[in-house]
Amino acid sequence: MLQKISQLEQSALEAIRAATTQDELEQVRVIYLGKKSDFTAIMKSLGSLDADQKREIGPIANAARKKVQEKIQSKQQELEDAFDAQTQWIDVTAPGKRDNLGHLNPLSIVQRDIEDIFTSMGFEISDGPEIETEYYNFDAVNVPDNHPARDMQDTFWIDAPRGEKHVLRTHTSSVQVRYMQQHTPPYRIIIPGRVFRQEATDASHEHTFHQLEALVVGENVSVANFLDIAQSFFSAFFGREIKVRLRPSYFPFVEPGFEFDISCTICSGDGCSACQRTGWIEIGGAGMVHQNVLEAGGYEKGKYTGFAWGFGLERLAMMKYKIDDIRHFHSGDIRVSEQF
Ligand code: DAH
Repeated sequence: MLQKISQLEQSALEAIRAATTQDELEQVRVIYLGKKSDFTAIMKSLGSLDADQKREIGPIANAARKKVQEKIQSKQQELEDAFDAQTQWIDVTAPGKRDNLGHLNPLSIVQRDIEDIFTSMGFEISDGPEIETEYYNFDAVNVPDNHPARDMQDTFWIDAPRGEKHVLRTHTSSVQVRYMQQHTPPYRIIIPGRVFRQEATDASHEHTFHQLEALVVGENVSVANFLDIAQSFFSAFFGREIKVRLRPSYFPFVEPGFEFDISCTICSGDGCSACQRTGWIEIGGAGMVHQNVLEAGGYEKGKYTGFAWGFGLERLAMMKYKIDDIRHFHSGDIRVSEQF
């Protein structure tokens, strides 16, 4: 019996060694360990032996069977590895997979471009809270309660039963006095930021949009400085020579106040459909900072002069990238930003 076991083990190991494919190995396993195999027969026959023989032969038969099992397993692994190495080759001619990178919203691109241009002209970037007190949004910039100018901007008021009244800021001019209170002139800053108006949406109006405020304060700052800086900025932004034109207008925080236009970015002033044949495109408001505002900022009366201007970022982005509807910016549709 012992000899039979040993022979069986030897021939099983031999067969395992000789197997060259996974199929062959499986056949070896069925022959030597399957239900009808000699090993199974031996294991079954152990039952009819007497106790002494069982004690002697049982463990040997078991060990032999276990050894064959282990060899089959390790050979199986070996064959699998070899198979992988043969089949998993790299096709160096296959086209590469494209990583799906995100895109910046065109507004972010425009804001970054603008910040780069202004910082290169010596401006600093500042900001303030979007939920603003009534004071900084209105009173500090010379728009007292009951002043008709408050109606120029449809305001989202925030319910607050006690304490100071708050609004969602209606313009970035709200940051002017905040900045003045912390800084001494001379300085030049821009304030890009999100603003809110309670108004119906259409292709050119949104309740939530972005403005860019510029503020320059010092001694002997003049309208000529504004024109020069504005022309340099718009020329850099649109990559071509742009002229700026002022029209007298009224904003409570400036005196004198202007609306300003830039020469048409399409026809350079000759007149085309984009500028309704006028050669000019309306951009924003500007003016010399009102003395009341400088005083709210904590400056001595008459000591400084400054100019301020504000305009909508979306409008600029729409002109630069020929976007026809302001609602695209916040649509959340990645087909919009994917184009940039
Ligand atoms: N705050 C004004 C608005 O939102 C825009 C503006 C006009 C800003 C004139 C200014 C300015 O700084 O001087 O309509």
